[in-house]
Amino acid sequence: MIAGTPHTTDEKAERVRADFPLLATRTSKGKPLVYLDSAATSQKPRSVIDTVSSYYERYNANIHRGVYEIAERATEAYEAARKRVAAFFNAASTDEIVFTRNATESINLVCYTWGFENLHAGDAILLTRLEHHSNIVPWQLLAAKTGAELRFLELDGQGRVVLDDLERKLQGVKLVALTHVSNTLGTIVPLEQIVPAAHAAGAVVLADGAQAAPHLRVDVRALDVDFYAASGHKMLAPTGIGALFGKRALLEAMPPFLAGGDMIRRVTFERTTYNELPWKFEAGTSNISGAIGLGAAVDYLQTLDMTWVREHEVALTSYALERLAAVPHLTLYGPKQAQERGGVAAFTMGDVHPHDLASILDAEGVCVRAGHHCTMPLHELLGLTATARASFYVYNTFADVDALIEALEKAARIFKL
Ligand code: ALA
Repeated sequence: MIAGTPHTTDEKAERVRADFPLLATRTSKGKPLVYLDSAATSQKPRSVIDTVSSYYERYNANIHRGVYEIAERATEAYEAARKRVAAFFNAASTDEIVFTRNATESINLVCYTWGFENLHAGDAILLTRLEHHSNIVPWQLLAAKTGAELRFLELDGQGRVVLDDLERKLQGVKLVALTHVSNTLGTIVPLEQIVPAAHAAGAVVLADGAQAAPHLRVDVRALDVDFYAASGHKMLAPTGIGALFGKRALLEAMPPFLAGGDMIRRVTFERTTYNELPWKFEAGTSNISGAIGLGAAVDYLQTLDMTWVREHEVALTSYALERLAAVPHLTLYGPKQAQERGGVAAFTMGDVHPHDLASILDAEGVCVRAGHHCTMPLHELLGLTATARASFYVYNTFADVDALIEALEKAARIFKL
């Protein structure tokens, strides 16, 4: 790709950008906002904001309880959102989608129910070295309590998962828990190769889709994953809403996670029988507005078309990789090919601390994340304590990448690199 020549997907991204009110604002220094931190959280389109406002303005009521009109309307909207999310992931049935707070809660749900029921001393759990803390710490807690062993798939020099020893590593493994897309290096993990091998070895597979679901067409049936965790706020929905896909047979056999209202069928002072799927896993009043907002977000993504979403991401990422590679003193981490990664670019520049770099970029209106991105072990493996990370989404354009590069060049002058 020639620098400065936007891919054809960019025209649509310009139009998409107009749907996001916050992106039309300016910083306190009067700079246009260049938002490159969607891996931390995405911006929200007008349709999602309006859907959430409309719930509060027109039919705010609790779900599954009231028999009056607005309560029924709220219940219908909440369950319709579940249907949309199930269709988005191509789940076989709507009750295989459990609403949670986020991908972290989805993973914890699996850990504390399926995990504690099924994993014992002598069993192994296979992770990758790419994992976010939320897909390491729950398993460490479980391993400490049960005596199960944690194993890791290693990475090559570009941060891609090494699969040469997959069969050997799978021996004795009962659970493979792995990210679909790395939030730090962007690496896309080849689930289509790993899942059949894991199943052949008798393991259950949980994929952390926090960074994949917003960007790739995720078909849980084609991938044949047993569990898939997603966060709404990274895919245009509000914060505090997430989803867990689980195969029906597994969800049915699992004990509840949290206990309380709505997850019960009958309670006596002596014992409780639990509600059907998926409500067995939704104790207490749910994030109703968040779930309805997530329904609007997946509608919006489907209108954009996930094929376009990915095509634009690859175009933007390959342009960003090419331009970042030409910035003096800049080291870029992760796979070299945009096709092998999501829209995330983590980098360091000379010996400038990533936080200082991010502050200079902020003065130019460019928002990037700096730090360990909740992947401290991966950073340690790379010999780093922190990186700066730019991440792209449907509303970013080639002009945003140009603004990032200009801001980095300015930073290089300020730090006298
Ligand atoms: N896990 C999120 C990130 O990567 C917050 O920034």
